[in-house]
Amino acid sequence: MDRTTLVQFIRRQEKMTPGATGEFTNLMNEVLVAAKIVSLQVNNAGLGEDILGMSGRVNVQGEEVQKLDDYANSIFIKLVGESGNICAITSEENEKPVIIPPDRAGKYIFMVDPLDGSSNIDVNVNIGTIFAVYRKQSPGLEVTDDDLLQPGTQQVAAGYIIYGPSTLFVYTSGNGVHSFTLDPALGEFFLSTQNMKIPRHGSTYSVNEGNSQNWQEPQKNLVHYLKEWDEATERPYKLRYIGSLVADFHRTLLKGGIFMYPGDKKSPQGKLRYAFEAAPLAMIVENAGGKATDGKQRILDIRPTDIHQRVPLYIGSSDDLDRAHTLLG
Ligand code: AHG
Ligand code: MN
Ligand code: MN
Ligand code: MN
Repeated sequence: MDRTTLVQFIRRQEKMTPGATGEFTNLMNEVLVAAKIVSLQVNNAGLGEDILGMSGRVNVQGEEVQKLDDYANSIFIKLVGESGNICAITSEENEKPVIIPPDRAGKYIFMVDPLDGSSNIDVNVNIGTIFAVYRKQSPGLEVTDDDLLQPGTQQVAAGYIIYGPSTLFVYTSGNGVHSFTLDPALGEFFLSTQNMKIPRHGSTYSVNEGNSQNWQEPQKNLVHYLKEWDEATERPYKLRYIGSLVADFHRTLLKGGIFMYPGDKKSPQGKLRYAFEAAPLAMIVENAGGKATDGKQRILDIRPTDIHQRVPLYIGSSDDLDRAHTLLG
């Protein structure tokens, strides 16, 4: 294990960026402290204060909010909001953006899915946090839609944390994808893998087949194709589906293959959110040599019209995505 800490690595990367001011490193330091606090709570869930179960609230997504959703949301908003580097935060759990008062604001925008995989919290299965960092685009102090509704190509950085057997911090700022493992005894994230690359092809597909009765024909044909026997194209693929996007994506990043959450007759735009889930993971997978589309167009090229916009997601190995697109038409 390399003993480079996450902050040392980010600082080194930022120093290689012309005109860097250290503000990004300062912001990411707050993100990783928030990750450590949430990780501690996740690992002690069920032991100390009652952090499991429902909060009794329904969020703007129409989902029943778990106590850990609220807890993680409050931690990331508080720490990142007080970094001095942020002028606005959008969150899956907040209907409206959190605008930072100008006297404490900075040049970045932070977008976050504070707790991904909420349905897995009480059953002790991997969950995570997904985040993206954008630059403020509009002149002056006011935060406008030009700042809040940016295409994924404008992301300065994207990352996720997985709270699992170990706590992993994976991020890219456009110069490769790098992963760090939390040493809980020291409370430090240490570099575990630099410049991660997704295999060009994998033999796993990941989708909730329980929704198949609502799929359109192309999605049905694609999954049928993946399940047919054919030695030359290494089929059938294996099915792996955890129900936590961060975990299903992380396995796909390491082993290759394809993850998909299609749109269907009931929800043509699917379930996953553009800003908090699809765009950050699309930046990561492209920096690792993979692809991410909505079935037709590149995820990163989409300019959202609402901060909670949903989008169908097909993401993973380049060869598997190319194959999928020939069947999706
Ligand atoms: P979140 O917990 O942030 O609301 O996200 C849940 C998402 C994602 O983690 C996962 O891929 C998907 O929901 C699973 O949805 P289904 O249960 O419909 O398969
Ligand atoms: Mn949710
Ligand atoms: Mn999520
Ligand atoms: Mn969530």
